[in-house]
Amino acid sequence: MKNLKARGQIVLSPVLGKYFDDFEVGSGKGSYLFDVNGKKYLDFASGIACCVTGHCHPRVVAAAKKQTEKLIHTCIGVAYYEPYVKLAEELQKIAPMKNAQAFFCQSGSEAVEAAIKLAKYATKKPGILAFQGGFHGRTLGALSVTTSKMKYREGYEPLLPEIYVAPFDLKVVEGLIKSHPNKIAGVIIEPILGEGGYVVVEAAFLKKLRQLCDKHGLLLIFDEVQTGIGHTGKWFACEHARVAPDIITLAKGIASGFPLGACLAKPEIMARWSPGAHGSTFGGNPVNCAAAIATLKVIREEKLLSNAAKLGSYLKVNLQKLQKKFPIIKEVRGIGLMLGVDFGNSELTKTIMNYCLEKGLVLISTGANGTVLRFIPALNISKKQIDEGLGIFASALENV
Ligand SMILES: Cc1ncc(COP(=O)(O)O)c(C=O)c1O
Repeated sequence: MKNLKARGQIVLSPVLGKYFDDFEVGSGKGSYLFDVNGKKYLDFASGIACCVTGHCHPRVVAAAKKQTEKLIHTCIGVAYYEPYVKLAEELQKIAPMKNAQAFFCQSGSEAVEAAIKLAKYATKKPGILAFQGGFHGRTLGALSVTTSKMKYREGYEPLLPEIYVAPFDLKVVEGLIKSHPNKIAGVIIEPILGEGGYVVVEAAFLKKLRQLCDKHGLLLIFDEVQTGIGHTGKWFACEHARVAPDIITLAKGIASGFPLGACLAKPEIMARWSPGAHGSTFGGNPVNCAAAIATLKVIREEKLLSNAAKLGSYLKVNLQKLQKKFPIIKEVRGIGLMLGVDFGNSELTKTIMNYCLEKGLVLISTGANGTVLRFIPALNISKKQIDEGLGIFASALENV
């Protein structure tokens, strides 16, 4: 039998990008992945920020198993079912806006599609304003507001019309709004740019953006697909800035790796979305919702938000110490367990990434030019595991 890579090269689309050439995974447990030969890896990528409770958390597995035996699918369009309603109730309790109502889908891109459609539909305005360096997904609508890597857009333009892309300059933002009266439905922004390189948007900027949206009657959409569900030590990154959006998009960590996305909005905005104006066959599938409910419960009961805040600070301080020792590190940034180490050099970043993998640590890159290594482990990682990862990372810095 050929290896997975050789078999994949015959049957898989070459469009699939790869961080590593030869990494073949067989299983995962907690903060560890095991390759097909049984070699153990400490996972600081957690499936690109998805496996917030670690790999195969027993309570998440048990909830999904139980639901699988009870009801796998019916579609919310056909009938109400417990996990869909229960998950919406649980999210309403933690959402940054009051009485938020939910629409579920399968992915981050679809959550963004839903947010864009909702903003347009509810305001009867065609346009969306986005920020330079933002990443919101690969479907055509989400791609229209994505500029983190222009390569993602090549070959697909023209994309959605009436998209306005601004730098992080509120004067320019207000100028765009004023010069397009009654054209812009909403503004979409990531509180921490994820694929843009783990760049934290300042709290003051988010506060002023909120004021600007209120002044001009625009909806504020926070894309928390990557920042959401605890990575920053709070449920949502916007809580650090004490700014609430009108609409929020979630996916990735919401169900510990089960495919689920959510678009939450204030009830007065959701009330303007007519029945049937949007939909999804699999969105909020019972098994994925059961996994999400269990995920939220585990985070709450195992106190994982405070663990992410505490160990995030510990990790950041230690990465900053390494920066002092190794000037190849240009910047350490981020909040909680969502940290980026910028080398300002993509080749070097790749070399370190590959060295770490070889030594048993999974770290993946991000940023417009791939110059940043992201540290986004599971929220229940231990101090011992953080030290283990830091040790491997430090040896990479010494040896490359
Ligand atoms: C902030 C943000 N929004 C949207 C997406 C798209 O999510 P998905 O890949 O699940 O479609 C991502 C994915 O990385 C993301 O980081």
